[in-house]
Amino acid sequence: MPFPANVQTYSAPGKLILLGEHAVVYGQPAIAFPVSELRTRVAVHPAPQLRVTSAIWDRTYQIADPAIHADPVYSAISLTAEALGCPIPLRHFTIESEIPAAGGLGSGAALSAALGRAVSFALDRQIDNESLNQIVFQVERLYHGTPSGIDNTVVVFETPVYFVRGQPIEHLRISGSYTFVVGDTGIRAPTRESVGDVRALMASKPDTTTSAIDAIGHLVDRARSALATGNVIELGRCMSDNHGLLQELTVSSPELDRLVEAAEASGSLGAKLSGGGRGGNMIALVSADTVERVSKALGVAGAVRVFSTTLKSNQEEPIA
Ligand code: PMV
Repeated sequence: MPFPANVQTYSAPGKLILLGEHAVVYGQPAIAFPVSELRTRVAVHPAPQLRVTSAIWDRTYQIADPAIHADPVYSAISLTAEALGCPIPLRHFTIESEIPAAGGLGSGAALSAALGRAVSFALDRQIDNESLNQIVFQVERLYHGTPSGIDNTVVVFETPVYFVRGQPIEHLRISGSYTFVVGDTGIRAPTRESVGDVRALMASKPDTTTSAIDAIGHLVDRARSALATGNVIELGRCMSDNHGLLQELTVSSPELDRLVEAAEASGSLGAKLSGGGRGGNMIALVSADTVERVSKALGVAGAVRVFSTTLKSNQEEPIA
């Protein structure tokens, strides 16, 4: 149920990885951008105890219970309070999310970021994005084990990024505007498992796995140049090649492959899975002429949900 318009909320967006997932865990670059139209929102209400309610669960936290430190929702709240030098605020936080869970759209990071912002409001303090990013990263560890940090960075700063693990954020230069159709397989696949399987593949077949990961890194660099120069054809090619390499890393699935093939057969310029894979979402680059056709084709090929989103230029357009 969406919040009524007069309720003050604190929010964060979803995200899509355009290229480079999985390889980013091994130090290669990746490109991701926020999906500002899909958000997680949190409202704050007075309460005698710490309570958090979503559409599907309702938890009251006993702060003395040590087991709650493994709970990502509690951790987002307690780490924010700690960073602000305050006790945990006894409030009722209610959550409304438009981002499907475990689908590669950054739902966990968006929830942590929105909760962090709501907690800082409840404590009458300001949390800066650098600190919030660190907090969301720590919570991502509880969800994923060994996250690269890309999800929290895009979701907290809400800007397209060229991301390399452990390096300062590079805000991506975008010339031209790019429309994507996103198709959801409806299969919820935990990122922790696919990341673990790539790690196992790296141990059993180090040579081929390393070369696939390096090749993904090269595609990301080509895609960065394509985005900077407005080369939509080249970007599409990089995306499709990236999907082939993700198949080699065993993180695609028959359902994802079916959606990628349907997008390509109906006129998309390039398509690939996005996020951890095995299920979740895929992303297809389209033109104004093909957006409808590709969206329909994804529905026919089994997507349970299809939406389109646009990555807009952040460069000064030349005056005609
Ligand atoms: O499934 P998501 O949206 O959380 O994306 C994970 C991206 C990976 O590269 C597979 C893992 C990571 O931590 O970067």
